[in-house]
Amino acid sequence: MKNYIVTIPAAVAVTALLAGCAGGPSRSEAEYRQLALDTIKRDFQAKGQAKYERLTADELQQACNAHANNPPPELAAKLAGAQLATVKLPADDKYLGDWKSGEKIAQSGRGFTWSDKAENPAGGNCYNCHQIGPNESSFGTVGPSLLGYGKTRGNSPEMQKYTYSKIFNAKAFNLCSEMPRFGHAGALNEKQIKDLVALLLDPASPVNK
Ligand code: HEC
Repeated sequence: MKNYIVTIPAAVAVTALLAGCAGGPSRSEAEYRQLALDTIKRDFQAKGQAKYERLTADELQQACNAHANNPPPELAAKLAGAQLATVKLPADDKYLGDWKSGEKIAQSGRGFTWSDKAENPAGGNCYNCHQIGPNESSFGTVGPSLLGYGKTRGNSPEMQKYTYSKIFNAKAFNLCSEMPRFGHAGALNEKQIKDLVALLLDPASPVNK
């Protein structure tokens, strides 16, 4: 008797589930995206440096999402121009900072979490996606290895400017890049980016040993 009571609701639930799979209304990709966003918005708690704005996609992110990271050429050209225009180059025209400080920034994953104090600068988190030094105990492989970057690419004024600009806004060079737009997003300041450029290009940096 006990079993009987238990199995009836279970059978009903399974039937309902199967009916749902077979005949329920199917959602479009856009509807699933909206559902996911609504869920994140409902559950995300803004606190400290973790703010609600991060949930809002800008024009570029919306275009990359809508076109599977490959917007049509005309739109892509327009968006790429707008991204390049965001890059603020240093007023003193100097790009090479201090590689030792750059190494600390590259290996720091701090920033933008609930527990980060407002006055503390964010790290670059570079190691999470790139190999960026000879002595790392671990690194991510989402991006290419940057080991030997300056050795192979040279240290010309153009390379310094490109590297600064790439870190400032990676999407100016690769529209739907997975790399964050560190300068544009206000995550890293001018000095921090110069220090990272030095880490990548200074012949004395461990990256180029
Ligand atoms: C979330 C992953 C991610 C993070 C974090 C990240 N990158 Fe990248 N990066 C990439 C990807 C993917 C590429 C290759 C695609 C592209 O060029 O945008 C790339 C490309 C680059 C390039 C261009 C390489 C070339 O051959 O021209 C440089 C320079 C670079 N990253 C530097 C950095 C630095 C410095 C940091 C830390 C401040 C960093 N990246 C953080 C994902 C990331």
